[in-house]
Amino acid sequence: MGYSIRLRPSSDSLRSGVVTASLMEAMLIGSGWHPSLFRAEMSALCRSRPWRLGPRTLIIESDDELLERLSRSASVDEYLSPFGLTSEADSLEVALAAWLSDSPFGAPAGRSIAVRWSKRGGGVDGVSGKRLAHTCGGNLSDQGWMIDLDDPDEELLICLDGTSGHVIWGRRALRELPRAGWTDRVPTERPFFRPVSLDPRLARLALNLVDIGEAEPLCDPMSGTGGVVMEGCMLGISMLGVDLDEEMVEGARANLDWLDESGESESEAILLHGDATDLKALLESEGMRVSGFVFDPPYGRNAWKSDDAWTLFTDVLASCRCSPGISAGSELACFLPWPPGLHGIDEAVTDSLGDVHGRPWTSVADAFESSGWRILSRHAVPVHGSLARLLVHAQAF
Ligand SMILES: C[S@@+](CC[C@H](N)C(=O)[O-])C[C@H]1O[C@@H](n2cnc3c(N)ncnc32)[C@H](O)[C@@H]1O
Repeated sequence: MGYSIRLRPSSDSLRSGVVTASLMEAMLIGSGWHPSLFRAEMSALCRSRPWRLGPRTLIIESDDELLERLSRSASVDEYLSPFGLTSEADSLEVALAAWLSDSPFGAPAGRSIAVRWSKRGGGVDGVSGKRLAHTCGGNLSDQGWMIDLDDPDEELLICLDGTSGHVIWGRRALRELPRAGWTDRVPTERPFFRPVSLDPRLARLALNLVDIGEAEPLCDPMSGTGGVVMEGCMLGISMLGVDLDEEMVEGARANLDWLDESGESESEAILLHGDATDLKALLESEGMRVSGFVFDPPYGRNAWKSDDAWTLFTDVLASCRCSPGISAGSELACFLPWPPGLHGIDEAVTDSLGDVHGRPWTSVADAFESSGWRILSRHAVPVHGSLARLLVHAQAF
């Protein structure tokens, strides 16, 4: 097998559309759900910095454990390695044939293969995926591969990526979407549901952004029905949930028992009744330390218009920073209410526009800074027509 040289493509070669993919390691393709969060999640899960081909396509240097780490992802669709690409429709078939002639799947040796194709962002002008798949199937068959569309040993994916203007192809290393089966995990299916429950996909994304790397639990200081705590347990992260409302603590406990019974929990979780504005006292009384935070403060437009909700949020930020175990470099991810339609989903938010229900962004940024948290990135997440959320990823200094 070739195509394992750890080199980056030169931007000149990509601009001229020449197929240089033989010098690259792996391609990640993200779901259309939220391209900027896909890139942020991949930056967190990959050990080296990904190289951006398009909003939903990243070239990365892979390592032995990457596939395992990607199995945690909320946003990746495809991991192709080895792979090839071109922006030149005219020479596409020749390029693909040359790539296939280098035996990127190894020797057929009685094995079977399927050729799949997909379109993203409307596809690429003048390129027919069906035709390409047919041609490649013939080529592979000539090489001695058995074609099996139902249960193949290998899969070649051809992706017509309109978002980057490239046709990308490669060996499909992720045979199943990491988030497969998520429809069974909608919060309404849990024994204890409240409309505040966080979407599992957002909970997972926020958890993946936070670099923990410690034996101490990750804390959701406002854990509600336990959406974040449960998702963390499924990722094998030791979790601590805290809530001031005893009914929520009991309900979250019922949800965790349910998760345990389903066999999906991979780690321990502790739930405490307590006040997120004084985590230091709570954790010291329990003899606990934490490694970071993911949380979703009380929500709803009315809540955020009141000074109480604002004070609660700023107090929780300060309380998190003073918690045992938290030091410079510790991380948090949290959600804020955000004006819908102000920022798209392709790029992270980098401007000072937008307010958190009446508070200008500059005051929100000050609240993070003055409590000892430096903002690393922000992503606007549409919820429905009149509501969005802002996912803020921050690091203690
Ligand atoms: C939006 S909900 C969290 C939802 C949660 N992420 C889930 O998936 O269910 C906010 C939670 O904050 C809790 N809360 C409010 N004030 C609190 C405080 N001072 N300390 C701890 N929890 C608090 C509320 O009881 C509520 O459960």
